[in-house]
Amino acid sequence: MLLINKVLEIREHVKNAKKEGKKVGLVPTMGFFHDGHLELMRQARKECDVVIVSIFVNPTQFGPGEDYEDYPRDLERDMQLAEEVGVDVIFNPSVEEMYPDGFSTYVEVKGITGKLCGRSRPGHFKGVATIVTKLFNSVQPDVAFFGQKDAQQVLVIKKMVKELNIDVEIRTVPIVREEDGIAMSSRNLYLNDEERKAARILYRSIQKAQQKVQEGERDVNSLKGAVIDMISSEPLAKIDYVELLTYPELEEKDVLEGKMLLALAVKIGKARLIDNAILEG
Ligand code: PAJ
Repeated sequence: MLLINKVLEIREHVKNAKKEGKKVGLVPTMGFFHDGHLELMRQARKECDVVIVSIFVNPTQFGPGEDYEDYPRDLERDMQLAEEVGVDVIFNPSVEEMYPDGFSTYVEVKGITGKLCGRSRPGHFKGVATIVTKLFNSVQPDVAFFGQKDAQQVLVIKKMVKELNIDVEIRTVPIVREEDGIAMSSRNLYLNDEERKAARILYRSIQKAQQKVQEGERDVNSLKGAVIDMISSEPLAKIDYVELLTYPELEEKDVLEGKMLLALAVKIGKARLIDNAILEG
């Protein structure tokens, strides 16, 4: 497995691979791998001849007072895990490499970024869209892999790729969960034992909504209400948002019809956790 830190070098590497007719896959990450990340890499391994994983904790997608400084980092551990799933190249640029002095160009997707995490974290998706564009332009992959765990992120990236005519196919991988249902996340690390147990309430409340849909409930407010009640019953959990919006448009609607995205963001201790599911009426 190769470790590359420079844009020009990764570009050269990919150019040579493409000359040989190889299909190149990119898995963008911020590192500190768990099985969710590894699942994206496994999918990429299945589909591509060359698998590149980028590791870059992107400062522009963190707001003031968020966890940029504390975000867990361990390149050596990540490299070992990536090697085990058969990754070919780790692209690990420095902050200066991606954002040299005087950097002033950003990519902004309007509309859908005003909801859910975009509303709670102003500027977050501008940072994500900018770094993902830069990674796409640096690596020039044929295919890129993203997790449904960040459902809104996938929608933002798909819209951006379409509207900016970026020549890359986007693949989405389902949410990978711990045995007790908690969605895997690098931020689960911030939880102590008690908080970790409390974090189960996110997926449990999603399951409750799914059960209500199965029983025939179609009223969006009752479905949201059931989720809110359940999360509120957990003293350590503080709701950021609970939304049920049309999918993929992310618009409000009173009655569950077709596909809708149930999305939650809940603060537990110092971790802000997100989870989601598609409900179908
Ligand atoms: P990061 O949080 O490291 O996640 C990298 C990729 O792993 C994302 O596509 C995310 O959706 C996926 N992922 C995380 N947890 C998952 C889980 N439990 N199941 C399935 N997929 C999961 O998302 C980012 O980094 C950044 O915003 C990035 C796209 C790299 C831009 O900086």
